[in-house]
This record gives sequence, C-alpha cells and structure tokens, in this order.
Amino acid sequence: MIEFVNQVFAIHGETYSCLLGLTAAGQLEQLYFGRPVATADAEAFRVRPGLGWGTAVLLQEGDTASCPDVWPLAWSGSGRGDYRESPIQLECSTDLRYESHEILEGDALMEQGLPQALGAEQTLVITMSQPGLRCKLYFAAFPGVLTRRTVLENTGEESVTVGKLMSFSMDLPGRWEMTTFHGGWIAEMNGETRPVGRTRLVNESTTGFSSNRHNPGFLLSRPGAAEEAGEVIGINLVYSGNHYASAQLSHQELTRVMQGISPDHFHWPLQPGEKLETPEAVLCYSAAGFGGQSAQMHDFVNHHIVPAPWQGKARPVLYNSWEGCMFDFDQRKLLRLAREAKSLGCELFVLDDGWFGKRNDDTSSLGDYTVNRKKLPGGLTGLARKIGDMGMDFGLWVEPESVNPDSDLYRAHPDWVLTDDFAPVLSRNQLLLDLTRPEVRDYIVEQVSAVLDSARITYVKWDMNRHSVALGAKAHAYILGLYDVQRRIFTPRPHILLENCASGGNRFDLGMLCFGPQIWCSDNTDPIQRLTIQGNLSQLYPQSTFGTHVSAAPHAQTLRNTPLVTRGNVSFFGCLGYELDLRHLLELEKQEIRQQITFYKQYRETFQFGRFGRIPDGWQVQKEGVTVAGQFRTLVPAAPGYGWLQLRGLESGKRYHLTSRQQKLRIGQFGALVKHVAPVDLNPNGLVLRTADRHITLPDGAQELTATGAALMAGIPMLPPFRGTGYDQNQRTLTDFGSELFIIEEETSHEKP
Ligand code: GLA
Repeated sequence: MIEFVNQVFAIHGETYSCLLGLTAAGQLEQLYFGRPVATADAEAFRVRPGLGWGTAVLLQEGDTASCPDVWPLAWSGSGRGDYRESPIQLECSTDLRYESHEILEGDALMEQGLPQALGAEQTLVITMSQPGLRCKLYFAAFPGVLTRRTVLENTGEESVTVGKLMSFSMDLPGRWEMTTFHGGWIAEMNGETRPVGRTRLVNESTTGFSSNRHNPGFLLSRPGAAEEAGEVIGINLVYSGNHYASAQLSHQELTRVMQGISPDHFHWPLQPGEKLETPEAVLCYSAAGFGGQSAQMHDFVNHHIVPAPWQGKARPVLYNSWEGCMFDFDQRKLLRLAREAKSLGCELFVLDDGWFGKRNDDTSSLGDYTVNRKKLPGGLTGLARKIGDMGMDFGLWVEPESVNPDSDLYRAHPDWVLTDDFAPVLSRNQLLLDLTRPEVRDYIVEQVSAVLDSARITYVKWDMNRHSVALGAKAHAYILGLYDVQRRIFTPRPHILLENCASGGNRFDLGMLCFGPQIWCSDNTDPIQRLTIQGNLSQLYPQSTFGTHVSAAPHAQTLRNTPLVTRGNVSFFGCLGYELDLRHLLELEKQEIRQQITFYKQYRETFQFGRFGRIPDGWQVQKEGVTVAGQFRTLVPAAPGYGWLQLRGLESGKRYHLTSRQQKLRIGQFGALVKHVAPVDLNPNGLVLRTADRHITLPDGAQELTATGAALMAGIPMLPPFRGTGYDQNQRTLTDFGSELFIIEEETSHEKP
C-alpha cells in the first residue's frame, strides 16, 4: 500500500516499510527503510538538525535542516552542498527539488526496451526538477520487495550529457556489512564480506556484461546477522550490462548505498525533449536474516521476474551433449545417446555446440547457422523428429551474438562486428556482432527464428562466450539491442524454454531472467565447487533459475573424483540435467542415475520451487509439508564425531517422518580392505575385485525415525560415521566428497496412500 500523508510518502509491503519525507527545501528525505512500521511513525524517524554542523552548506539560509550533506536522502545532487557520492552526474551541478507525485495502481511500464519486474501492487512516481531537467523517481511496491528506477528528461533547450544516473540512492542509518560475489570463468560466485566504512566500497562490472567477475547482486547486513536472524537487505539490478554499486559510511553514521549502470566511460547525450531510463533496482529487506532475505527474493524472482509462462512451471530433466561429445558427433552417435538418455529417464535432449557450418572446433562458423549435413544428414528436422519419436523433447544451442572471423557471415559483413579504433581483438577466436545496429538485430532475429521454426524445438540454450569491447554508452546500447533481439525471438514462441548462458555464469542476472527462466550457472560442474556457486547464487536467485548438471568423474576442471551420489545430490537443488558420455557408463551407474531421476521427478516441484534454506553442512528445500535436506561432506577426518541434522522452518508441534535416501557403496572404494573380510586373500588390483566393483554395491546406512518439528529443528544425531572399525549397514560410510539426502514429511501426509 502506498500513501501520501502529512508530506510523508509511505510504501508498505508485507515485509517492509519505506518512508520518505520532503524537506522544506524540497529534497527527498529517506526517513526509513526496514521492517513494517506505521506511516504515523515518520516523525519519530526524523533526524533533528539542532544547531547544525558548522561549515556545512545550507540550501535555505538559517534552516539547519536544509543542509544536504548531513541529511538522510533518497536522492541527491552534486555540486550543491552534498559532498557524499552523487547518484547523478552531468556537466553541470544538479539540485533537483520536489515538483509533484502520482500513485499509480499496478506497474508503470518502461519505455526504452529494458526488462522489468511485473505485477507491482502500486507504483509511486515522484517528480523532481530543476531548470532544464526533470527527474522521475519510481518506487514499485511488491509484497516482499521494493524496486526503484530513475528517468531523466532534458526539458531545456541545450543538449545534456549524462555521465552517471543511478537507479536509486538511499541513506540507511548506522553500520552495515556488504557481501559481494566475485569470480571468473569456472570460478563464479565467491563471496566476500566487508564492513562498510568511511572508504567507499564498490561492486562494479566494466566488461560490457553483468559478468562473472562481479555479480550485480549483493547484500547489506547488520554486523552479527545470521541465517535466521538479523537485518539483511538484498540488492540487485534488472540489467545484464556494466553495473555499479557502492556503499559508504558518512561522518554522521549514515550509510549511502546506490546502484545503477556503471558510469565507467558512460556518456549518454540527451537532446532537448529526450529521456534516459535506468534499469530497475531491487531492494529486499528482511528482519529474519540471510534466509529470510533469500526466501523473499526467491518469491519475487519466481513470481515477478521470470517470464509468465514459466512461473512455477516444472522444468524437464535434460541431457546435454556438450561435455560428453564436444564437437565430435554425428546423427548416429546422438541418437544412441538419446536412446540411453531416454532409458535413464531424461525428458529433453539438448544438442549443444557443433551442429552448424564447419564447426568442428571453436575456431570457425559462429554466425553461420546452416546445419552441417555431414554430421546431421536429416537436418535438425530429421533429428528432432527421431528424438520426438523416442518420446523426448529436443533442444538446441545457439550463440547468436558472436561471430568467428572464419565464417561466411563475417566475410559478407566484416563491418557488423563490435570493435573500436584498433584492430579487432579475439577471445575464444570470436568477436561480438554490433547489436546496436538495427540491420544486425534483424539478421539475428530472422536467422534464429528460421532455425527454431525448422524443427520441433522446445528448448534453447543461448550462449555468449566473450567479454565486450564496447565502452560506456555503447555497451548500454548493446544490451538494449540484446533485449530487443531476445524479446522478438522468444515472445512469439512462449513454448520454448530459454536457458541463457555466457561461458556459464558470465551473465547470471535478473535482466536475462526476464527472458529465460533459467541460466547455466557455470561451466564448472564439479559438485564440490557447485556447493559454493549454487550456495552463493541462492542468496539472490531461486534454485528454479539454476541449470545444474551431473557430469563425469574425475571432473574435467578439477580432476576430482566425486561419487555419483554427490554429483546427483548437488544437482538436485536446481534444474537437473546430465552432461556426460552415457555410452561408457557401467550398468550399476546407469541404475543409480535411473533411481536419481525417478527420485528427482518425485520431488521435482520441491527442488525447483520449494523454499530454499541453508542448514549446517547443507541445504534444504521445503514445499507443502515436504522437506528434502542435503548434507555434504568435503574431507573426512579420521574417527569423526557425531553429526547432527538440524532443519529449519518446520512446525514445532507437528510430527514428521524422516527417512534418508538409500545410497550404495562401490566395493572398489574399500580397496585392499576387502581382503580383511573376504574368506580368500584378494588382490586389490586383481580381476576379481575389479569385476566385483563393476557389479556389486553395498547398502549404506539408512536412517528412519519420527519426531516433532521442534526436535528436528533442535537437531537430531545422524547414524554414526565410518571410523575405521569395520563396515556395517547401521553406519554412514561417507568418503571424501560424500553426501546424503533426507526426506522429511508431515506424518499425516506420509500416512496417506
Ligand atoms: C560455453 C558454454 C558451454 C558449452 C560451450 C560450447 O563454454 O558455457 O556449456 O555450451 O560453450 O562451445
């Protein structure tokens, strides 16, 4: 609910209130942002100017409350007395004052092609102005989230160049910590937490994209905030290009935080009458800790960001050809893999890179999306039909923004690439097409549309494998071009599930999620690394947006040999897929995968859309009385102590039935130890044991009990771990990188047939 009472704007969501005041000078005052309060509390939150702050500038003589430098503001200018960081930078000073406002029902739609969250209850638009400029500040109220954006209009007679225009700026009381997420290719989403002090902390990408270096999403938390307690604000941008966010503590103990398009090299000319619209920033306040914040943010993304046709819609279990085949395949091989994938339970077969032009490695053909008939004599149409006949859907990889110099497209249009004044620089042997040019966008739309309509294609993996060379304003125009292209291709084809990808997580952001409901998190599918990647992504993005695949062990990037059970258990917490050569799996591995897929399908809605929580040593998901919890080990110590399973979010008084998912142990993992229990002296490297390892598994300890929610949340001991004193079925024999899953169901629902 949004109201304007006694010169106070009040925005009340289910989990937050935001109160804004107007100073006598007409500046927009940030009275409050936090847990729900009453509009009438506004006066209590107002800071008192007293006799003022010495040498500070006063906008109105004698009025110590008109001192912009010390006041908590929801927007500020530059060059007029607020010497903190300004959210706006033009060639001139800015001193925008309140002019008018309106409260709109529902959304205020954007006008310049940026994606936005949809389904706001109400939107407050506050117009600020100064001679020659009008600035509209948008506040959209969603149940658990407030979004903000800015539109600047040149109302003067002269052209104005915008160097910086943030989506929001806000002064919060007191001290906070800032958690940001940094990384690189196959090493996305490492968390870093620092206190916000007097020196500015900046989270920024200047690669042209939201980037794997610094994800645009970040957290502000009160020192001491924990998973279930304390104030946490999640902040993110609905944008896929260069971004900037900063936080800094002022001398008056106010933390100024802002976010928007990166001002790095940004010079956007505004002719008289023209407007510049910023992306939408998302602010998610929770008084219930990191878990409370992420749950609200997940709800918001699931209901207001991802495209409507995919909201809450179960995602298929897919098989992807990349890690198993790379570029080396033909139709026969693909069909064999598809048959195997189908027999394991996969529902969608995805043909990754290598199906077009002369693309037998990554040096050529990006841009030429004509089917390679040597590999696929029946074309995509034939292949998709054959796969359809097997009872599986068919999906395809494309990388339409890129071009290899060795391609017909580049030879025909060398001027279509995005470049600067220097000779083009390649990355993965490729350049980007200049999506700021309408003819390039038209070409991509036509070509990709024709491919998608040429066969029964229900899924697209849209990849992009380099950083951009475009700077500032051109980088922004490129992103607008990308949005235009995806909008034109996918809006008329709502049946296509779009999974965006950029060398993995190089564009994991809310902008891309407005077009496709899931994103390939990382080219790194090592499950132990995925604990960090998916775990940190979960702070800002719901698990329904994660592409999570089981791949081969030893792993291609870490050489870690992780048990198949853990590869499955980690991948379950997302949109499950398999990405390995199925032809060489042992029968017992196939059996295990079959059981994994059956299990996942049974709890698919819980895994994809359940409430996600971080518990000690693991994760849990929860939906309609069912909780599935994963416990993940990294290195096993000798003689480990007890382990406790501690769940969250259950109802204290209810009784629950807990079972662990039965797991199997490979004989080979016991090596020479087997001879101690076998009646004959066995060679650990001999044929008998090697053969036994391929055919025989031992059951691992399975736990079953009933208890109240209170007990399960207090923490119950798990079965004793293996301690070097022998094997039996009543202990958990988890090796390094082992894991296990527990299913907890309300007793009533458990007893139902
Ligand atoms: C990128 C993607 C991978 C795969 C390859 C194909 O690296 O992230 O998943 O599609 O390209 O070239």
